[in-house]
Amino acid sequence: MTEVQNPNSKTPTSNGPQAALAYSSPPALMTEYKEIETTVGNALATAARRIPGETPRLEAEILLAHILGQSRAWILAHPEVLLKPGKVAEFDSTLSRLADGEPLAYITGYREFFGLDFLVTRDVLVPRPETELLVEYALAAIGERRVAGDGPPFTLHASRFTTIADIGAGSGCIAVSLAVNLPEASIIATDISSAALAVARANAARHGVAERIDFKQGDLLDPIAGPVDLLCANLPYIDSDELSALTVARNEPRLALDGGIGGTELVERFLAAAPGSLNPGGMLLLEIGATQAEAVSATARAAFPGATVEIHKDLASLPRLVSIHL
Ligand SMILES: C[S@@+](CC[C@H](N)C(=O)[O-])C[C@H]1O[C@@H](n2cnc3c(N)ncnc32)[C@H](O)[C@@H]1O
Repeated sequence: MTEVQNPNSKTPTSNGPQAALAYSSPPALMTEYKEIETTVGNALATAARRIPGETPRLEAEILLAHILGQSRAWILAHPEVLLKPGKVAEFDSTLSRLADGEPLAYITGYREFFGLDFLVTRDVLVPRPETELLVEYALAAIGERRVAGDGPPFTLHASRFTTIADIGAGSGCIAVSLAVNLPEASIIATDISSAALAVARANAARHGVAERIDFKQGDLLDPIAGPVDLLCANLPYIDSDELSALTVARNEPRLALDGGIGGTELVERFLAAAPGSLNPGGMLLLEIGATQAEAVSATARAAFPGATVEIHKDLASLPRLVSIHL
C-alpha cells in the first residue's frame, strides 16, 4: 500500500482504486507543510504539458487525485494546497509512465464505463467510450424505444430478451453494464483469457450482479450451450500487421487487440458460428473497427440471410456498431 499524506490529516489513507472516487470534505491548509513549495495548481499546470492525447488536463487531475487519495472535485477546489516532496516525486514518476503511453486506467486501477467504475488490470483492455454505443443500443432496443438508424424502427420487448451472451468480455464492462440495467436478464460472459475473466468476475461482484452472470472460458461461442436472445461482442479487430506499429500494442494485451489478417478473422469466425446461438427474433450487436463497416456487414448478411443488418455511428460519426435483427 502506498502511503498518502492527506493534507488535512496526519493519518495515511489507502491509495486503492476507489480512492479517487471518494469525496472527502475540503481540508484546511496546514501550516506544518508551508516549507513545501509546489502547489496542486502548479503541479497540474506543469503535468498537463507533459501528457499526450486529447485530455491532458483531465488526466492530470485524475492522476493527482489518485495519488493524494482525494476526489477530483477536491483537487479542483484546492489549487493552493502544498504538496509534500514525496507526493511530487510520485506524481512525476507516474506522469512519465503516462507520457510513455501507459493508459491512465492501469495506473489508477479503474476506469468509468457507462456511469459505473470498473476495476482494470493489465490482463484486460481498458474499456473505451465508443463501446458504450453497443450498451446504449441494446438498452434502447430492448426498452421498446425507437432506435435511431437507417432502417425501420424496432419495437422489441424486454421480457423476450432474458438471455444474453457477451463474447470476449474482457473487464466485463458490457456484461456488467447490461446486468445492472436489465435486472431480469441472465447473462453469459465468455473470454478465452482466464485472467480477463477473473477481472470481469470482480467487476460483477463489485456491482452486485455476480449471481446473474455465468463466466465461461473458451473460444468464441464454444462455451455457449444453447441459443440466447441477445449476442454481444467486442472482439479484437486490429489487423495483425498494423498492430505492431501501434502504441496500444505495447501497453494493452495483444489477445484483446489482434483481429488476425485484415483485422476481421475473429469477427468472421464469430459471425459464421453465430446463427446457431441466436433465438428466433433475437438480436446480435458487434463493435467493429471504423473502416470495417462494409466488409463486416457483407459477412453478416451472408451469415444471416433475411435478417436486418444495420450500421450505427458513434459520437464521432464513425461507423462502430453492426446490429443484426432476426
Ligand atoms: C477488444 S477486447 C474487448 C473487451 C471488452 N468486451 C470491452 O469491450 O472492453 C476483446 C476480448 O476478447 C477476448 N478474446 C480474444 N480472442 C478470443 C476468442 N477467440 N474467444 C473469446 N474471447 C477472445 C480477449 O481476451 C479480450 O478480452
